[in-house]
Amino acid sequence: MSATGKDLVEEVLALKRERNAVILAHNYQTADIQELADFVGDSLGLSYKAAETNADVIAFCGVHFMGETAKIVSPSKTVVLPDLDAGCSLSDSCPAEKLQEFLDANREKNYYVIAYINCSAAVKAIADVICTSGNAVKIVESTPAGRNILFVPDQNLGSWVMEKTSRPMDLWRGSCYVHVEFTRDSIDRIREQYPEARVVAHPECTQAVRLLADEVCSTEKMISYCRNSPAREFIIVTESGMLNRLRREVPDKIFVPGPTELCSCSDCRYMKLNTLEKLRDCLANLQPEILIPEDIRVKAESSVRRMLELSR
Ligand code: 13P
Ligand code: SF4
Repeated sequence: MSATGKDLVEEVLALKRERNAVILAHNYQTADIQELADFVGDSLGLSYKAAETNADVIAFCGVHFMGETAKIVSPSKTVVLPDLDAGCSLSDSCPAEKLQEFLDANREKNYYVIAYINCSAAVKAIADVICTSGNAVKIVESTPAGRNILFVPDQNLGSWVMEKTSRPMDLWRGSCYVHVEFTRDSIDRIREQYPEARVVAHPECTQAVRLLADEVCSTEKMISYCRNSPAREFIIVTESGMLNRLRREVPDKIFVPGPTELCSCSDCRYMKLNTLEKLRDCLANLQPEILIPEDIRVKAESSVRRMLELSR
């Protein structure tokens, strides 16, 4: 790391102590952010950490819905995000007003709404329960019998859960712009180059890609799967930041990013808006801060807490 890079890390760590802050980072963050974070994980692990922390400030290196989730479960903390524009295409695909309109137009279905955590606080406030890719199967399996399920917003995760549980669900037609860029052909081509490699894919990928995978799982489960597998090589079909953590924590194995038709790996443009400089600035200024109207936060908290209790 350059002298300036080292100075920047020192600055961040000094501000962290001064603010009594905790730095939480998602698995898709850049290596420099992951290396100085107090905890790096998937959406589920990060939600637990945010709910349990004693820090006064949570600096959330991830995207907006993740920072909102931290605020929902830890309302007395100051939650800051390095870049407020770090959004999520999946979350954007299900605006709360559209969801409410749909529910109003389909009252006879009396839907039980399961919302993937990649959605706004306002959608969480409408939902009955939240799930992540790490616990979606468990959450769907614990849905009261006889209820019609509406699963929002990711149709790919939803169809994967239906395959795993055989529970019928109506699916919102949202998707992640990063994961739908992987194709059957792009993964087939890289498999020809690494014929011994296991293919590990995130459930936000399309069914055509999931069918090629040896394992479909959340980003956290990717770590334990690759660590415990007898295989030495893995093609990782998710956002490229995941390879930072895999290479750090499973250094004796080889990780190849899953390519798309256009690119040898896939970055989430929102996740990659966060930088060390912006992390330093948000700790220094306590801005941009995540704020949620209290009536929405309280409703959203009950669906998030239901998830946390169900997935213990
Ligand atoms: P995980 O919860 O598996 O980390 O996924 C979050 C996400 O945004 C995937 O695109
Ligand atoms: Fe959202 Fe996709 Fe980025 Fe995950 S990778 S934060 S689902 S846009």
